[in-house]
Amino acid sequence: MMIDNPYVPIKTGILDVIDETSTIKTFSLVPDKPLHFKAGQFIEMTVPGMGEAPFTPSSSPYDKSKLEVTIMKAGRVTGRIHELKKGDVVGLRGPYGKEYPLNEFEGKEILLVGGGVGLAPLRALFLALAHDIDKYKDVLFCCGSRTPSDIIFKDCILDKWQKLDKRVNFRVTVDKKDDQWKGKEGLVTTTLDNLKINLKNSVAVVCGPPIMMKFTTFKLIEVGYKEDQIYLSMEKNMSCGIGKCGHCRMGDYYACKDGPVFRYDKISNIHEIWD
Ligand SMILES: Cc1cc2nc3c(=O)[nH]c(=O)nc-3n(C[C@H](O)[C@H](O)[C@H](O)COP(=O)(O)OP(=O)(O)OC[C@H]3O[C@@H](n4cnc5c(N)ncnc54)[C@H](O)[C@@H]3O)c2cc1C
Ligand code: FES
Repeated sequence: MMIDNPYVPIKTGILDVIDETSTIKTFSLVPDKPLHFKAGQFIEMTVPGMGEAPFTPSSSPYDKSKLEVTIMKAGRVTGRIHELKKGDVVGLRGPYGKEYPLNEFEGKEILLVGGGVGLAPLRALFLALAHDIDKYKDVLFCCGSRTPSDIIFKDCILDKWQKLDKRVNFRVTVDKKDDQWKGKEGLVTTTLDNLKINLKNSVAVVCGPPIMMKFTTFKLIEVGYKEDQIYLSMEKNMSCGIGKCGHCRMGDYYACKDGPVFRYDKISNIHEIWD
């Protein structure tokens, strides 16, 4: 009897590579076999002869023709991925982990707060929400980047998505502006000042570097969100991705299996969540 080996990746062609910033690229991928994910789940991407790393797809879960991942150059594997070109082949396995619980978001005002490459998973979530926008009250997307040239999905965030629907709004900020930037300057936490949201009927979703997640979560609590209204995407170091190796342990949880999406009240007592 043949037993499916969960570690065997699906052969996947690179359809296109888009330069987002000097350190971030979006890869458009077409797996040989269908690989359907839900917003918030992650995949393991294998680079032949180099190794593998986890990434959260950034494209719409409803787009079955391709899957996009937006990857920051951080070290060995991601450095090699950044050298890949259209027509090259990688491996994908997954999807793994828990997705954003969209049924719990229905009828609510949804606040998305993303920083840097953390905007990648939120793009998949945003596109899923926009696909069924009638199910939600409205969506406020707060986007933070270090400088104007570090903004990813620039055409969408600064233009296309802003015109999508009157229930969708954006607050975009950069830590440090340049001569051309006419928008807001300040850390992403400053976009949470003067929120015109009925907090009782709202959920907030945060994704970004650990330090950004920590201060954004604390600010959300300060402005009146309860712990059980905040959802975090925890990108802990991972290896197997399927709850076997223990690399991603967080208290009683494995981030790969029980997350990466966690409601904050479930993990707020675990010390190492911001490491
Ligand atoms: C569930 C999940 C989803 C992710 N989604 C994305 C994504 O959509 N886009 C993206 O660019 N990155 C994402 N990451 C992070 C990405 O997996 C790491 O940047 C990558 O594994 C680094 O591999 P490397 O070999 O290039 O770096 P290494 O040579 O292994 O390390 C370089 C540096 O990066 C740090 N690092 C290694 N792994 C991680 C990690 N998992 N998280 C944070 N820092 C790490 C190391 O501590 C070291 O400082 C995600 C991580 C997880 C766990
Ligand atoms: S990555 Fe192996 S248990 Fe989570």
